[in-house]
Parts: sequence; structure tokens; C-alpha cells
Amino acid sequence: MKNSEKEKVRNHKKNNNFKKAFENRPKPYFSEIINNDDICAPNAINEVSNSFLGDLDIKRDRYFSIDFANLEEKYIWNKVWQFACREEDIPSIGDYYVYDILDWSILIVRSEENKINAFINSCLHRGTQIKPSNSCGYSKSLRCPFHGWEWKLNGDLVDIPCDWDFPHINKDEAKLNRVKVDTWGGFIFINLDSNPISLKKYLSVLPNHFKTWNMAKRRKAAHVAKIVPCNWKFAVEAFLEGYHVKETHPQALPYTGDVNCQYDYWGDHISRMMSGLGAPSPNLDTDNISDEDTIESMKDLVSYLDGDLNQNTNKIKPREFLAKSMRDILTKSTGVDHSKFSTSEIIDAIQYFVFPNFIPWAGYGVPIVYRFRPNGYDPDSSVFEVILLYESSDDSAESNPYINWLEPGDSWTKAEELGGLGVLFDQDEAAFKAGQNGLKASSKKGSTFSLYQESRIRHFHKTIDNYIAQN
Ligand code: FES
Ligand SMILES: [Fe+2]
Repeated sequence: MKNSEKEKVRNHKKNNNFKKAFENRPKPYFSEIINNDDICAPNAINEVSNSFLGDLDIKRDRYFSIDFANLEEKYIWNKVWQFACREEDIPSIGDYYVYDILDWSILIVRSEENKINAFINSCLHRGTQIKPSNSCGYSKSLRCPFHGWEWKLNGDLVDIPCDWDFPHINKDEAKLNRVKVDTWGGFIFINLDSNPISLKKYLSVLPNHFKTWNMAKRRKAAHVAKIVPCNWKFAVEAFLEGYHVKETHPQALPYTGDVNCQYDYWGDHISRMMSGLGAPSPNLDTDNISDEDTIESMKDLVSYLDGDLNQNTNKIKPREFLAKSMRDILTKSTGVDHSKFSTSEIIDAIQYFVFPNFIPWAGYGVPIVYRFRPNGYDPDSSVFEVILLYESSDDSAESNPYINWLEPGDSWTKAEELGGLGVLFDQDEAAFKAGQNGLKASSKKGSTFSLYQESRIRHFHKTIDNYIAQN
């Protein structure tokens, strides 16, 4: 047999392995769980989109090599659309927000009611940061704190103190350097590339899938950040699969889908995981778990919304019971009527990934957003942020742009605004440290990933490879 034919046979076999793995995943499938719900989920939730993405190990040095981090800077961070802040972080003209990534510092400013600018946060005189890293606030103009060069909110130069000494500067040309900026769903994105593809194209199916979940109307209820002890990719990957739930978060198994999660991906930039809540994991002996047991186990889950489960006097199914409680709690806490939203949108964990580092959750009940960034140029640590975004009945509602920075030794439970989620992040973070240290100690060349449950991680690395290869 010729080599090309051998290759064909091998690929055919590998594709079949993937199909078999997909068919053999444990029941109940996510689609079966939601098919029994009282209020049906919107079309986007019913979509299935997966394929075989490979079965080879992924080299471990990309998690700790400085050389690989340099490639990422040059070919990924300089090219991708990055979620920088929320529109409600800069609600009024003159409000600004500084977004930092590696050595870059970007100053995002609202210059008119409907106009947002992004500039390199560096003075054109001698380079001083115009606003401090990670800061936000209000400024009538953009004035350098060193010698006082000053720009309008649109980046035009206003004043050079002692301009008699700068006859060699063309004032009309001394505008702040612009960075591409665009918005989707109340999220402000920046792109350091001077000629990137449009954000709309970049986001692929995302805006269409999210059209029923109006992210622009949401407001930040919490924003917690922490430097965590692993490479940014290792941290991202912990949120791309549900396979780790049994070992890492065993307390969630009585009411969480894990090995029966659904995974989908579209194009280079978007993937999704959906986990049905209110039904026990197939990892448990489900025949011996009563509906009452499941409901009892969910009390911790719901408490983070400050609500108590009502008495289940009518013996309704656990998913509907949870959905009813959550609808009541969310309607009360947000002022938005949640009674018509489907069971799945109210209770399930439906999270999308936008390459390379942004994870917005869909639906209404678990309104989380994750963001991951390298911690400067240290490949062994990263910045992990958790944001909670709730529906708002008031379009003009403002929210607090303040970030609660936890210290490296702090438990996530110290951030009380995260409620019961803090325990889960502590468990994930323990895996971060062990993972990063273990990867460095390994005598194996790469990490092994499963065909289906870890396919989003393969998708992530394929896109990393594509960016590096294309550029
Ligand atoms: S460095 Fe900014 S005014 Fe001098
Ligand atoms: Fe986790």
C-alpha cells in the first residue's frame, strides 16, 4: 500500500474512533435532558457541531517555555480581538478604563455618548503612561502626569506646555496612537493589529446564538481577579471540559452533568460546553438517587443567589424545581421577569469560549464571564478573572467597574460576591498549581487529550497553531 493510502486508512480509523467515542458517551445526553423540560430551549441550544480534531499529544513545553510565550505575543496577542472592559465600566463621556496585556497598555475612553476610542496608553513626549495600569475613572481630557502634555478625548493634541521649546513638533500630527476597538453585547474589545478582520466576522456564530440573551443589558455585579500559579492556557483549559468534575469538584456530582456534557465548535474562534444541572452525573449510581436527594444536594448551588429553595410540596422534577426557584430569585433580584425563559437557559451551565481567553456563559441563571491573561512575561502564572453579569431592567443602570483583586494566598471564598462559586475556584486553582509543576517535571513529551470530552482543548490548540503558522 502506498504511503498516501496508508495515511487515508489511518485517518479513516481515527475518525471512526471519534465517532465511536461520541456515540459511547454516557446517557442521558444533554439533548435528552433538555427535551423533557417544561419550557423548550431556543434553537441555538439544540445545535450540535463537532468533528474529529486529532488524537496526538500536545507538546508540554508550550505551557512553560519563554520561546513559546514570545510566539504567542507576536502571533496571537498582537492579532486577536480581546475583551477589554464592559460598556457600563465607562458609562459617561470622559470615563476611561485601562486594559493591560503583556507590555501593552490600552486606554479606552468614551469621547461621545456613542463613541468609544482606544489609544496606546503612552504619552507622545517621553512615553509616560497617561493613566495608571488597571485603573479606571473620569477625565475631562487625557493629560500626561509627567510634564502635562494634553489631548482631547478623541486623541487630538490640546496643549504642549512650553510649546516655544517644541517648534519641531507638528501639533496636528501629534495625535494619540489609536488601537482598533469594537463592541458586542456590551463587551468592549480591542485589537492590537492595524488591519484585523472585523469583530463580527471574528465572533462567527456567537452574536446569532446570543441574540436571545441580551448581554448588552446586563450589568456587572462582581469582578474578582487573582494571579494564579499556572500558564494562562492551562487555566483556560480547566474551563473547557467537564471531565475533571468527578475528581476535582465531587460535591457537584449529585446535580451536575459532567461526562455527559455536550461540546461544540465553530470555525477557529468559538467553542461551547453545555452541562445539564438538576440531574445527577452518570458517574453516580443514578438508579439509587431519588429526586428528593437531588433537590437536597442543590441547596448549596442556589444559595449563592441569596435564595432558599422553596418547599417542594408538589413533587415537581428536580430541574423544574430548580428552575422555578431560580426564576423567582432572579426576577426578584433583577427586576426582570424571568418566568418565560426556558428551563435550560435558567439553570444549565452553557458556556462559550471566544479564542483566546474569553468565556461568556449563556442563559440567565449562571451569568458568569471568565477572562484569562498571561501575567506579564511569566509563563508559570496568569491572571484569572471572574465577572458576574446580571440582567437589568434599567437601560441606564450603572455598575461598579471596581475589581476585587485577591492576593495569591487568598481563598476565592474571600470574595463573598461570588457566593458558592468560590469553593469551586479554590478546587480548580489547586489543580492549576499541581498541573503546572507536574508538566514541568514530566518525562513525557506532551499532554494526552481525550477525543470528545477534551475536544475543545484540541480546538484551542489547533487555533493557536493556525495563528502561529499563518502569521
Ligand atoms: S512624558 Fe508625558 S508630558 Fe512628558
Ligand atoms: Fe473546575
